[in-house]
Amino acid sequence: MQTIHTIVDLRLALQGQHSVALVPTMGNLHAGHLDLVKLAKQQAPCVVVSIFVNPLQFGANEDLVNYPRTLAADCEKLQAAGASMVFIPTVAEMYPDFDGQALNQSITVQLPAMADDLCGASRPGHFAGMATVVLKLFNAVMPQFAVFGKKDYQQLFVLQQMVKQFNLPIAIIAAETVREPSGLAMSSRNGYLSQAEKSQASQLHAELQALCEKIKGQGPKLDFLALEKETVLKLESQGWHVDYVAIRTASQLKPALVHDSDLVVLAAAKLGTTRLIDNVSLKL
Ligand code: PAJ
Repeated sequence: MQTIHTIVDLRLALQGQHSVALVPTMGNLHAGHLDLVKLAKQQAPCVVVSIFVNPLQFGANEDLVNYPRTLAADCEKLQAAGASMVFIPTVAEMYPDFDGQALNQSITVQLPAMADDLCGASRPGHFAGMATVVLKLFNAVMPQFAVFGKKDYQQLFVLQQMVKQFNLPIAIIAAETVREPSGLAMSSRNGYLSQAEKSQASQLHAELQALCEKIKGQGPKLDFLALEKETVLKLESQGWHVDYVAIRTASQLKPALVHDSDLVVLAAAKLGTTRLIDNVSLKL
């Protein structure tokens, strides 16, 4: 596996490669990330994994400084997983107008109103910052395939729209969410949880599954808003601070209507200071 730090070196290393799959990450890799690498290897012989904690997608009061950085361990895992290259750029490499303090990225991807919905409501600018760095990574690697996890369902949706509307010749591959045996979705942010919080954290997935069962069992009196509210109250009674619980259409992330049959149930909630997200797909 080659370790590369600059876009120039990356382009040199990629010369002559006709089929490349990219797996963008922010590092602190877990089994979920490694599953994306596995999926990428099924798409293309050359797999590039990027590790970059992107300042542009973090809000002022978020965890940019404390975000877990475990580069040596990450590289060992990627080597074992069979990645061809790991791309680890600096902030200055990704943001050419960075002056040591401000990124000065005055041109960014502009997203539709749905980027202010769900996670975007409590993380203003997050998805635009995320889409901007992913577009930069696409430009640096020019992959034929890019793999993203369904764990970040809204992120996946934004990127699918970006690729379509910018006519990018990249196939987006969606990977299933990898979970702990308890049902807790694997996440770098799980490392922030205390032991007690970690054993409680599987409630989020359990409540989403329970909500799916209720939707299936409700028949013609289906009241999505009432069911969302019930789940919020249940989680809050267990000590969670809920950002949202939402029943949406799987393909457009629009509020579900009674006759919609392909749904996704999403939630974001805080346990102590740790914000966790999860979602479960539901076909009626
Ligand atoms: P990060 O949180 O490191 O996640 C990198 C990729 O791993 C994303 O596509 C995410 O959906 C996927 N992933 C995370 N946890 C997963 C799990 N439990 N099962 C399956 N896939 C999982 O998402 C980002 O980084 C950034 O926003 C990024 C796209 C790299 C842009 O900065």
